[in-house]
Amino acid sequence: MAPSNGDVSTREDAAARVAYLFSETVLSVQPNLKAAPDVGFQHALDRMVYNKDRGIVAKHGTLPSVYSVRYNDDPFLAAVDELRSTTFISITTASSTLPAAIAHLAKLAKFPVVIHVSMSRDLPDFSEITSLRQLGFTLIQSFNLHEAQDLAIASHVLAIRTGKGVIHFFHQPEVEETPIPFEDVNQIENFFDRNALVYGGPEGNTVANHLYWNEAVGLVAEKTTMKEDADEKTNGGAVSLAKVGYTTASQFQAIEAVFELMRVATGRTYKAFDYHGAANAVTALVICGSSAQTFITTIREAGRGDIYSKVGVITPRVYRPWSAEKFLDVIPRSVKRVGVLEQAHRQTTKWGRILLDVISSLNNDLSKATAIPVVVGYQLGYLDSKTIRQALRGIVQNIQSEAPIQNLVVGGRASHDVDSEYHLEEPELETAYSKMLYNVFGDRLSILNALERDDAGIPRTITSNPEYGFGAYLAKEEEKKLLVSKLQKAVNEKLFTNQEINDLVLHWLLLNSEGSSKLSEAGAELVSNLEIEGSEIAKELLNDKAFLLGPSSWIIGSDAWSYDLGTSGVHNIIASGKNVNVLIIDSQPYTARAVKNVSRRKKDIGLYAMNYSNSYVASIAVYSSYTQALQAFIEADKFTGPSIVVAYLPYNEETDSALTVLQETKNAIDSGYWPLYRWDPRPDENGLPNFQLDSQALKMELKEFLERENHLSQVARRVPVFGGNIDGSYSSELRSRQRQKAKKAYSRLLEGLTGPPLTVVFASDGGTAENVAKRLQRRAKGRGLGAVVMAMDDFPVEDLGAEENLVIIASTAGQGEFPQNGRNFWEAVKSSTDLNLASVNYAVFGLGDSHYWPRKQDKIYYNKPAKDLNHRLEILGGMRMVELGLGDAQDPDGYQTAYPLWEAELWKALGVDGIGAAVEEPPPLTNEDMKVQSNYLRGTIAEGLSDESTGAIAPSDFQVAKFHGVYLQDDRDIRDQRKANGLQPAYYFMIRVRMSGGVATPAQWLAIDRIADDMGNHTFKVTTRATFQLHGVIKKKLKPAVKAINAVLLDTIAACGDANRNVLCTGLPYNSALQKELNSLARVLSEHLLPTFTAYHEIWLTDDNDQKKLVAGNAVVDFEPLYGPAYLPRKFKIAIAVPPYNEVDVFAHDVGLIAIVHEQGKLTGFNVVVGGGMGITHNNKNTYPRTGGMLGYIKKEDVVVVCEKIMLIQRDNGNRKDRKRGRLQYTIDDMGFDIFRQKVEELVEFKFEDARPFSFESNIDRFGWVKDERGLNHFTMFVENGRIADTPGFRLKTGLREIALAMKGEAEFRLTGNQHVILSNIAEEEIPHIKRLLVEYKLDNRQFSGLRLSSSSCVAFPTCAVAMAESERYFPIFISKLESYLEELGLRHDSVVMRMTGCPNGCVRPFLAEVAMVGKAYGVYNIMLGGGYTGQRLNKLYRSSVNEEQALTLLKPLFKRWALEREEGEHFGDFLIRSGVIKPTLDGSKFHDDVAEEDEE
Ligand SMILES: Cc1cc2nc3c(=O)[nH]c(=O)nc-3n(C[C@H](O)[C@H](O)[C@H](O)COP(=O)(O)O)c2cc1C
Ligand code: SF4
Repeated sequence: MAPSNGDVSTREDAAARVAYLFSETVLSVQPNLKAAPDVGFQHALDRMVYNKDRGIVAKHGTLPSVYSVRYNDDPFLAAVDELRSTTFISITTASSTLPAAIAHLAKLAKFPVVIHVSMSRDLPDFSEITSLRQLGFTLIQSFNLHEAQDLAIASHVLAIRTGKGVIHFFHQPEVEETPIPFEDVNQIENFFDRNALVYGGPEGNTVANHLYWNEAVGLVAEKTTMKEDADEKTNGGAVSLAKVGYTTASQFQAIEAVFELMRVATGRTYKAFDYHGAANAVTALVICGSSAQTFITTIREAGRGDIYSKVGVITPRVYRPWSAEKFLDVIPRSVKRVGVLEQAHRQTTKWGRILLDVISSLNNDLSKATAIPVVVGYQLGYLDSKTIRQALRGIVQNIQSEAPIQNLVVGGRASHDVDSEYHLEEPELETAYSKMLYNVFGDRLSILNALERDDAGIPRTITSNPEYGFGAYLAKEEEKKLLVSKLQKAVNEKLFTNQEINDLVLHWLLLNSEGSSKLSEAGAELVSNLEIEGSEIAKELLNDKAFLLGPSSWIIGSDAWSYDLGTSGVHNIIASGKNVNVLIIDSQPYTARAVKNVSRRKKDIGLYAMNYSNSYVASIAVYSSYTQALQAFIEADKFTGPSIVVAYLPYNEETDSALTVLQETKNAIDSGYWPLYRWDPRPDENGLPNFQLDSQALKMELKEFLERENHLSQVARRVPVFGGNIDGSYSSELRSRQRQKAKKAYSRLLEGLTGPPLTVVFASDGGTAENVAKRLQRRAKGRGLGAVVMAMDDFPVEDLGAEENLVIIASTAGQGEFPQNGRNFWEAVKSSTDLNLASVNYAVFGLGDSHYWPRKQDKIYYNKPAKDLNHRLEILGGMRMVELGLGDAQDPDGYQTAYPLWEAELWKALGVDGIGAAVEEPPPLTNEDMKVQSNYLRGTIAEGLSDESTGAIAPSDFQVAKFHGVYLQDDRDIRDQRKANGLQPAYYFMIRVRMSGGVATPAQWLAIDRIADDMGNHTFKVTTRATFQLHGVIKKKLKPAVKAINAVLLDTIAACGDANRNVLCTGLPYNSALQKELNSLARVLSEHLLPTFTAYHEIWLTDDNDQKKLVAGNAVVDFEPLYGPAYLPRKFKIAIAVPPYNEVDVFAHDVGLIAIVHEQGKLTGFNVVVGGGMGITHNNKNTYPRTGGMLGYIKKEDVVVVCEKIMLIQRDNGNRKDRKRGRLQYTIDDMGFDIFRQKVEELVEFKFEDARPFSFESNIDRFGWVKDERGLNHFTMFVENGRIADTPGFRLKTGLREIALAMKGEAEFRLTGNQHVILSNIAEEEIPHIKRLLVEYKLDNRQFSGLRLSSSSCVAFPTCAVAMAESERYFPIFISKLESYLEELGLRHDSVVMRMTGCPNGCVRPFLAEVAMVGKAYGVYNIMLGGGYTGQRLNKLYRSSVNEEQALTLLKPLFKRWALEREEGEHFGDFLIRSGVIKPTLDGSKFHDDVAEEDEE
C-alpha cells in the first residue's frame, strides 16, 4: 500500500522524523554531500526541511538545522564541535561509521546526544554496536516500524532526562512494512517540560545546561559549568543522576520510567528483554542478529516432533546498560542450556561480547535456585526462512550434545551481493594523493594511520584520527632505536666479514644521528650490499629494510581535523617537532563552501602550522598542478621535522567525474580560496623563511599573515607582480570600483549629450548582438539622441526606473538562456518586485535561431530571452515603443532580414525617423580589413604584449596573432566565477608549433615538455595536424615561450591564420626511405608556401632591451610574393598519405596528396585530390563538409608547383565576403570542378594524368612495434586524444620525457594525424631499455578496446574559445560508457572510427567518422552516422541535440544490430548504410539531404 500523506513506511523515516523534532541540529552522515534523496534517513529529513516543519525542542522562532556530513569527513568530530553551541543534537547514520569514531563517541556519550543507527541492510554486523558497550551510551534496539518510532521518541526523552547519550539502532528490512501514521506531536510534548530546556550548548559554555529528571520533581534544568558538574551540590532538592553517580541502576530506572511513559501514551509495552517460546523450555537462544524474528516465527510454528519445539528465544532490547536482573527475570527456570547467537563479522575476541554478558548474568544469579545452565556461543550469519529450520536443528543438536562445540558458524556470508551500504574505504577520488605518494616514495612510503593496504601500497582504510597515526609513528621510532642498537652491536662486535658493509653501516648510523636527508640513499646502498652478503646478521637486518631505507612517514587525514586544531592530534604532531609528514585532504567543494554549518569554524591548518614556525607547509591541488604537488611531497619528505601538506580535492560525491573536481579546483584557486604555496621555515640567504606562491591569488588571511610577519615585501620579490585583474582577493572591491567608474562615465556621457536620452543594453555571447547594439547607438547619436550602450550586466538594475528610453538587444544562448553578460540583469529584473517602470519607454530586439533546437517541443527556446524580457518589462509597467523584433538566423539574411524594419519603427517611435539619411557610419572592420591594415601581420601585437593592464591583446591583433601561431583564449571553466567576482576572464594563449612532416627530435620533445612546465599549463597536445600545441601560456610568458620554441629550430609561423598550415605527412613506420622522402617533401612544401612577413622576428625573437625594433629596418617594406597583403581568404591545408593507410584523412584537406609508389617501393608521383574541408556552421545549409575531389596524377617533381598554383587560385577566387564560405571547397563548388582543374592546368602548364589506382584500408593508426626495411624499430603508442599530461595514476608525460632522454642515435618522435605518437628509429639494442620504460610508465597498453583505439576528440573546453560542449575531457568518459556494452556484444576488439568535437568547426575531422558527436551546447551533441572506415565517405546527421543518455540509448541498439547482422568484415559505417539506418553522403553538397531526422516545423 502506498503511504498516504502523513504516513511513515520505513524505520529510517520514523527515526529521522523523531530526530528532527527533538533536535536543534541533526547531522546526517552519508556517503555524499548530495545523497540521493531516497537514501536512508535523508528522505524524511529533506522533506521536513523543505516543509519548514517546526521542531519540538528547537529554540522558539527557529527551525531545526540539518547538515550533511560525509562519512569519511570525521563526521562525529563535527558533532563534538557542534556541542559548543548546541544542546540538542542528533545524528543519523549507518552502523559502519561507528567503530572508526570511538574516540569522539566517548565524548558524545556524556551529553544528551541521540544517534539513530541503521544497520547494514545486507548482513548487519552487530559488533559495530557491541563494540561501543563501554562508552556510557544507552544502547536500545527496535524490532519493527512501530517500535522504531516509539523507541526513537523514548531515546530522545531519555537523553533529555538523563543528560546522557543514547544510541538507538535497528535493522532496516528490505521488505516493505505496513505504513504507520506520523508520531503524535501533542503527546510527545507532554513527555517533558519544554520551558525547562536550556540552550546554548553544554560544552565550553559557562551556563551550560544539564537536564536531569527527578521522580519527585520531574525535569530539572541545572545551570553549572561543565567543570563543576562532577562534584556540584544537588540543585533544589533534585537528584542529579550525574552527581549521585550515573549507575546502571539509576540508568535503568530512567529507562523503565520512559518505557512506562510510552506504554501509557501508546499502549505498547517495552521491556529490556523479550522472551518468546514455551514457558517450560529447556533451551534458550539469546539472539543478537537481524534474523531474530525468523527464529521466533519458526519456533512458534514448530511441530511436536521438531527438535526445537522446546526452545525459547530471548531478544535484548536494551543492550546497555545490561541488566542481569532483567535478563534472569525473562529466562524460564526450566532452561538448562543457553545458546548465544551473535551476528558479528569482526569478532576480535574468542568469546562474543553478548556471550560474556550472558555468562556473567547467569553466574550472578543470586537465587541459584537451579544449576547454572551450560552456555554455548554461535556466530550467526545470514539465514532465510528456507534455511532456518535446518540451522535450528543444528544449533539445538549441538547445544544438547554432551560436549557442545563453541563458536560454530551458522548461516551464510550474505543474503546477496548487492552492496547497498557504504564502507569506510578511502574514497576512490581521494586515492589520487595516495597514488602520488606511492609513485614518489615507493617502498619507502609508510602511511602510519593505514589500517589495511592493497597490493599497490595504497591504503584502503585509514583511521580518522591523527593521534592513531602519531602513536604509530612513536612506536616505529622505538623499533628504529632497536635497529640502531642492533647495527651498533654488529659493528662493535665485528659481525660483518665484509669491511665495505661495515663502513656503510657506520655511514648510515652517522647520517641517521644527524637526521640527514641523505639517509635513504645510503640505506639503499647498504640494503643492496646486505642482500649480496647473505649472512645471518644481514638477513636479520634486512627484516628492517624499510627503516634502513629511511621511511617517508605520512599520516593522511581529512579537513575535519581543522575544526579542532588547538587540542587536536595535528597540534601535537606540530608541537612535537618530530619528523613526520601530515597530508590533509580537503574535499569541501568550492561551490559548497558557504553551505557548511557556519558554527563550525574551519581553521586553516597551513596557517596554523606556519605560525608555529617549525614545520614545512605546503598547499597543493593535484587537479591544478601535478608538478607543484609532486614538488611539495618531495620537499616535505626531505624536511627534517613536521611537514603539513594540505591538499585540495573537492567533490560532492564519489561518483563526481574528474571534470567536476577539476572545475571546482580551478575556481577555488583562481579566487584565492585555495592558494598553492610552499613554505619552508628555514631561513634563506636573507634570513627569511622561504615562501613560494605557486598560484596567482592569495587569500586574505594568508596575505595578512605574511604582512604581519613583515615578510611580504621580501616575499613579494619572489612572487610575480599581479595586476588587480587577476588578484581574486580584491575582487569585491574591484567590482564596486568598476561599477562606480561605469556610473560616473555614464553620468558624464549623459551630461554631454543633448538630444533625448537612449540607453541601449545588450546581452551577447558571440558578439553579434553586441555589434548590433553598438551600431544602433552610433546611429542614434547621429540622429542627435543622447545614446549610450553597455552590456546588460553592467547596467545598474536599481536605476532602471529612471530611464527614459531603453532599448534591449538580446541574443539567445544555451537552450533559450540569456548570454553570460545578461544573466545577472535578467535575474534581478525577473525577481524584482519593487521596480517601477511606469515612465520607461522600451523596445526589445532578439537574435535567435528558430531551428537551433529543431524538435517541436523545443520551439519554446526560440528567442526566449528577448520574449521573456519584453513580457517582464511590460508587467513592471514599462511602455512598449515598438513591437518585439525577432531576428532569426534562418531567415534569408539571418537576423538582418527583420532588423531594419524594427529599427525603422524605433526611429519613428523616438521621433527621429526623418533624419536617417544624414547618418553615415563606417562599415564594421572585417577580417580582411584587419589583415590588410595590419602592415604585414604586425598590428599592435608588440605594444599589446607590453600592456600589463590586461592579460589579453586587442581584438584586431587577435586575428593577426593567429598567423604567428598564437591564439588568445581564456579559461572557460572559471569564466563565470570570475565574472561574478568582477574580474576579467583569465586570459592566456595557445601556441601551435609549425612542424611540417610531424617529426620531432628527442631534444625538441624535451624542449616542448619543459616549455609546457615552465610557461604553460604543464601539459601539451599532439594535434590532428601532427604538431605540438601548448596551452595556458599567460601573456608575460608568451614571448619567452615562442623564443624557446625557435631555439630548438622549430617555429610557429602560420600554424594558424589564413595561410598554408602545417603540412601533414604520414609517419609511415614500416618504410623508412619513403617516409624520409615524403617528410622532406612536406618540409619543402611548408617552406615554399610560408608567409615571409618579418614581423614574426621583430615581435618574438628580439630582446626586450633591443632598441632596434625592426629586423629589416623601417626602410624595408614587407613583401609577400605568394600571398599579398590580404593573405588567403581562409586557412589552407595539405596532407600526404601512402595507401593503404589513410591515417591523415587525405580527403579532408584543401589538397590531398596520395603517394603512388612503384612496385620496387619507389615514389613516382601523386594522385591529387582537392577541396576537402570539415568546418560547418550548425543549421547553416550553405556550409557543409566535403571530401576532396580527384584532379588526377602528377609526377613527384611537379608537386610543389601544383600545390602553389592551387593555393593561388584559391587566393584570387576564394570568398572574402563570407568567411563561412571562404575555404577552397566552396570556391571549387562555386566555380565548378572541371573549370577549377582547367585553371590549375593553365597555371602549371601541363595536364593532370588519369589518377593511378590505389586503395585505402583504414584511417586509423596501427599500434605496436614494427620493423622497417633497415632493421630499425618503431612503436606506435596510443595517446588518448593527444594530450600529454601526468595524472596521479598515469604519468604519461614523465614517461615520454624519460624515453626522450633515453633515445639514442637516429631515434625520433613522429606524431600522427590521429594524435598519437610513434617512437621511431629505435635500434635493436635499445629496445629492451625502451620497453622497460614503456612498462614502467604503463605506456605499452594496447589492451584498450577497438573503439577507444580508433577514437579521437578535439580540445574544446576549457581552452577553446568557440567550444559549445565538452570534448577532450568528456569523450573518454563517454567511450567507457559504451565500452562495457560493446564487450557484452563481443565487439571489444572491433574498430569503429568514432570522433567527438565541441563545435561544428570539425577540428578532428568528425564528419568522416563512422560515428561522430558534434557539440551543440553544454552536454548536447548532434549524432552523425555513416562515415566510411577508410576516411573516403562523409557521415550524415542522424539525431540532433541529444544528451548523454539519449546518445547511449540511440547508439547501443545500432551496435547490437551490427554485432548480429553484419556481413563478414563489414564496418559499422557501411553496415548502417546497407541496413538503411542512414543514407550515404556521396558528395559534400548533399550532406544536408536525406537526413534521418528532418527538422520539425
Ligand atoms: C550554443 C548556442 C545555443 C543557442 N541556443 C539558441 C536557442 O536556444 N534559441 C535561439 O533562438 N537561438 C539559439 N542560438 C542562436 C543564437 O542566439 C544566435 O546565433 C545569435 O545570433 C547569437 O548571437 P551572439 O553572437 O550575440 O551571441 C544558440 C546559439 C548557440 C551558439
Ligand atoms: S572543433 Fe570546435 S570546439 Fe573543438 S577545438 Fe575545434 S574549434 Fe574548438
